[in-house]
Order: sequence, then structure tokens, then C-alpha cells
Amino acid sequence: MSTAKSSKDKRVTTHRLLEMKERGEKITMLTAYDYSMARILDATGVDVLLVGDSASNVMAGHETTLPITLDQMIYHASSVVRAIQRALIVVDIPFGDYQGNSRKALDSAIRIMKESGAHAVKMEGGTEIRESIERILTAGVPIMGHLGLTPQSIYKFGTYEVRAKEEAEAEKLIEDAKALESYGCFALVLEKIPSALAKKVSDALSIPAIGIGAGPDVDGQVLVTHDMLGITQEFKPRFIRHYADLQKTIHDAVTNYLNDVKDKNFPGKEESY
Ligand code: KIV
Repeated sequence: MSTAKSSKDKRVTTHRLLEMKERGEKITMLTAYDYSMARILDATGVDVLLVGDSASNVMAGHETTLPITLDQMIYHASSVVRAIQRALIVVDIPFGDYQGNSRKALDSAIRIMKESGAHAVKMEGGTEIRESIERILTAGVPIMGHLGLTPQSIYKFGTYEVRAKEEAEAEKLIEDAKALESYGCFALVLEKIPSALAKKVSDALSIPAIGIGAGPDVDGQVLVTHDMLGITQEFKPRFIRHYADLQKTIHDAVTNYLNDVKDKNFPGKEESY
């Protein structure tokens, strides 16, 4: 089996991500929510595994990321942690567990780190979550920021369209990105913004900017694993590339199994005791 072009032996740290940006090596990031998938992903040499609150959509079938709870995120994160030997594990703090209350933000981050064993947390927003970010950082918990189309604010946006196409929103995003770096975030995600703006942000920062729907001129790329593997096919914005059609693969395999059972072709002699 082939593996990614990365040094497979060394554990990925937040410091190594900074070094990768400095030498122009692209950072790879995928989502993971469970032990079995995380084991497969880690063995490929992926740099960062994000226990995203997209688990709310992908794992639980909710329409948005808002319903997932801190306990549920910790459950997913601890399953992923048990699988990993190399990747850096970042966990989303869910909606309602950090906004507007820095004490609660600190408690949430500490619970994630202590109960799951993950390496860092991710939070959506810019200057408006400054207090929460700074308080969490005082406890030594590394933070990845997230700007652009931040799904926890979907009811404010009202649409999953590209963000920051207008100058005012683009300027605010650049300001927010610089602010996140100045507060001490080690990286940030840029979601669904124009490529030219993403390049501007990446060029302006010394911390890595990891894009999803943000074009090629950023320091790394992240996708939802179930999207890129073609397990979820209903959701297909243009930034997703399907590297497999696992929906069909699974469908065909299960259909073959059902037919074999119905036709008394399974189990065979060699599969029986
Ligand atoms: O929750 C998630 O999967 C994310 C990625 C889309 C970056 O935040």
C-alpha cells in the first residue's frame, strides 16, 4: 500500500505544522470520528485528523452542526485518539460551549483534552471570541481557528454560499485572521472563500492557513473524509473531489452478501465449523 509523501515515523505536532509552512510543504488534514476509520487514515500519513463537529451531519444525520454536544464530541475524539500513532488530533468545541463565556470555553477545552486525550481544539470565529481563545491558551491548550463559512453560524448567514466575496467581509476576515495569529492560535481553517482572498490571508500569516473550498494557494487542505470517499454523495459542492465511490462499493458488497444468504451460498463449508 502506498503512503503519503511525508515523514511517517515522526508524530505531528503544532510546531511541525509551522515548520511545514516555513518550508512550503503542504499540510494534509481529514476528518475522523471513529476508531476504525481513524486507524486507516493515520496509516496513510495524513498530518492532521480533525474530529469535526461535522459528525453532527455525517455520523448523526442532523441538518446542521449545532445539535452535537460536548459529551458526544468527547466520545468521538476518544475513539479517534485510541487509533492514532502519528497524526495531530484536533477537536471542534461544539456550538454553545465557548461563545460568549470564556469560563465555559476553558471548561470545555479542558474536558476535551483531559477526557479524550486529543492534542488541540478548534473554534469558529474571530475577534468576537478573543476572551475565550485567550483564556483557553492560558491553560496551554493549542487552538486552531476557523474563518469564512463557519457552519456554527449558518442561521446568521442563511446560506452555505461562498463567504467574503464583498470587500467589507473580506477585510474583516483578514483582520480576524491576523487577530487569531496575534492571540496565539497555531493554525486556522479557511472555509469556502475566494481563492485570491485565501492566498492573501496565507501570505499575511506566519501560521498555516488550511483551506476547504479556499483554492490552492493556502498552506494545506482539509476535506470531510466521508465526502472525499464518496460515502456521502448527496452533498457535492464543487470543492469536493471524490477519490472513491464507497457508497457504490458498500452497496454492491452488501447486495452480494444478501444474495448469497438468500441463495444459501453463504456460509460455505470452509466458512463453517
Ligand atoms: O467540522 C468539520 O468537519 C470542519 C471542517 C469542514 C473543516 O470544521
